[in-house]
Amino acid sequence: MTKKAGMVTHPDGEVKKYAVIGNPIKHSLSPVMHTAAFRALGVNATYEALEVENLSRAYDYLKENYAGINVTIPHKETIVELLDEKEMAADLIGAVNCVKFGRKAMGFNTDLHGAISALKDVVPHLREKNILVLGAGGAARAIIFGCLMEGANVTIYNRTVRKAEALAKEIGEKMKDIEVQRRPDPVGFDILINATSAGMYPKVDETPLTSGIPSNMVVMDIVYNPLETRLLRKAKEAGARTISGLEMFVRQGAESLRIWGYDPPVSLMREVVTKELMKND
Ligand code: ATR
Repeated sequence: MTKKAGMVTHPDGEVKKYAVIGNPIKHSLSPVMHTAAFRALGVNATYEALEVENLSRAYDYLKENYAGINVTIPHKETIVELLDEKEMAADLIGAVNCVKFGRKAMGFNTDLHGAISALKDVVPHLREKNILVLGAGGAARAIIFGCLMEGANVTIYNRTVRKAEALAKEIGEKMKDIEVQRRPDPVGFDILINATSAGMYPKVDETPLTSGIPSNMVVMDIVYNPLETRLLRKAKEAGARTISGLEMFVRQGAESLRIWGYDPPVSLMREVVTKELMKND
């Protein structure tokens, strides 16, 4: 386990330790965002990025030494089995990206909250909305369950169709039937969500969708680096409303802070991450 610290120095008092674990992890913006939040709140806490290769081996150390962690690729699914308890949504999704350690280790999925809260800011009522989700990975799972919980109709498309079909089967058994597209076609949908990593830095010329985006659509991307993906640029050009991946990222972080017992300074967190991303431009 190697450490990259985002430290706040504290002359005295107990320091609570938090971290994001993943592999690779060195490009994560979570330490910058959370460290700024703790500093603004005047909280005695640190937030580091920990590169974890073998989660089962690192788990007991994390539980003993940290008050909470965020979890990212490739550990979001593996950690589920190690925890003492999970909130219902995390259990349903089968992925956890936020853990609160105490006498018991409790797992949450704040990606779901982040995505749905970002979406509802622009489309307050998702009931009966027709949503096309691109992707069939961990992020797509959280978003699809979130949309279904809000009463939306979901269709999915994934580059590897077999994975989309397997996910649709699982979701159909657990919750509600969803359609699978064999070719991505956003026509007729109210909302399009890219839950793939297509278009993420450094492959900024990639896009998960090449065919036309209707002007009356809302298009959301989970990719936040770059701030405006090729997909969002095309959507804007077509006259559609867009939601950047930054919103989901900031809001999943804010929800993690709430779970750990803090009141998140959301605007500041958004500002800090935006500034950091602008440095890459
Ligand atoms: P995450 O947990 O972030 O969702 P993941 O589980 O590895 O990560 O899933 C990545 C998703 O992005 C998958 O749906 C993947 O499609 P495949 O199942 O076909 O691999 C999708 N994806 C990644 N790169 C892509 C690209 N260039 N074009 C389209 N889809 C892509």
